[in-house]
Amino acid sequence: MSFRKDFVWGAATASYQIEGAFDEDGKGRSIWDEFSHTEGKISDNSTGDIACDHYHRYKEDVRLMAELGIKAYRFSVAWSRILPDGTGAVNQKGIDFYNDLINELMKYGIEPYVTLYHWDLPYALHLKGGWLNDDISDYFEQYVTIVAESFGDRVKNFITFNEPQVFTGCGYFEGSHAPGYKLADKELLHICHNVHKAHGKAVRALRKNIRDVKIGFTMGTTPTVPMSDKDIDAARNSYFSCGNGHFLFSESFWIDPIVFGKYPENLMSAYGDILPEISAEDMKLISAPIDFIGLNIYTGNIVKTGEGGCAEKVPCPAGHPRTAIGWDIIPSSLYWGTKFYYDRYKLPIYITENGMSAHDCISLDGKVHDPNRIDYLNRYLLELKKSAESGADIRGYFQWSLLDNFEWAKGYSERFGLIYTDYPTQKRIVKDSGYWYKNVIENNGENL
Ligand code: GAL
Repeated sequence: MSFRKDFVWGAATASYQIEGAFDEDGKGRSIWDEFSHTEGKISDNSTGDIACDHYHRYKEDVRLMAELGIKAYRFSVAWSRILPDGTGAVNQKGIDFYNDLINELMKYGIEPYVTLYHWDLPYALHLKGGWLNDDISDYFEQYVTIVAESFGDRVKNFITFNEPQVFTGCGYFEGSHAPGYKLADKELLHICHNVHKAHGKAVRALRKNIRDVKIGFTMGTTPTVPMSDKDIDAARNSYFSCGNGHFLFSESFWIDPIVFGKYPENLMSAYGDILPEISAEDMKLISAPIDFIGLNIYTGNIVKTGEGGCAEKVPCPAGHPRTAIGWDIIPSSLYWGTKFYYDRYKLPIYITENGMSAHDCISLDGKVHDPNRIDYLNRYLLELKKSAESGADIRGYFQWSLLDNFEWAKGYSERFGLIYTDYPTQKRIVKDSGYWYKNVIENNGENL
């Protein structure tokens, strides 16, 4: 036993992080265009105007994927490229771009996995209230219907939302991401319920338009990792309890409504007086069956059993290995995250993101040597394999990212790619880790 025979080995990106062409061919602005153009929001003062220029270079990027033996490509559609105002008139050139990209992928037998919302809300909708506007889930359903009608003959795998807790948490609570708001809990609960409804309506639109469609919802998650076997229960309980820290960052707040059809009890009682209207009909819509859960896992929190059986975070010792962005390297987060999720929700799991930011540079020999990333991926994949071997239904793994790209509020200062992007020339150089990953794919992970 190891990885399934049909295990999906992929790589992932997102529209705003790679496409560029921010105002070309009729594309409308998104909240990220506006945010990155606002002084002081991006640490290196950059924008995604050009990014990796993937809009013009997608053929080369797909060819590189094929050379690396990548079997599946997870990318997101920019809503405002297809519907410049978020609703209403369709921009045919936007549809053409994704059609061309999908056809190019098909040419090489690379399976597309499309994320419908990776944070770039059309700015025109933001001006109408964005996620606070109660019509937003209908606008989302219209957009998803157009995506399904246009690409559903070739695309069978969809992720409705990427990391809802990050775009709501960083975008509307902490203010570090677009649109840079710091809202109160009442508004946040309202936003989240609208996101849940938008998810439900997207599922409805996809099922209506695409036969055999597979639909998932992706969480960004920092699993609790028990320090010893004695701490497993405490780790599991605290991982899913909706009360540690802000509800926005909790697992069960997002997934329980989708899988179990209800919000966590303690949330309902704690926030009862400021909750938006939540009808039985809403919950039915939100909990329409999905096919898989996507997990983005980069790091974990080591915990031990503390007072009253609750989990207590154990800080990493001084000098513990970290990635360039400063995240602790905790390979077993991939084991525990997938195990805890599978035990609770019993749905197939894809790792929709995992990878590391490293201080990559072009060496004198013209190549990019990144032994740290190889070691990181090797350690994490071994833990994923262990989880699959012990019974979790793990269907695939998408490395983040295919190529170095615009890392949100950190601009171009972090490099996560298997492929190096030389931004001044837009030259791509496959890193050593890219070739290493090719070998892992060829061996279906048996050589790990
Ligand atoms: C995730 C996000 C990606 C990427 C990655 C690395 O939170 O979905 O877009 O930026 O983190 O930081």
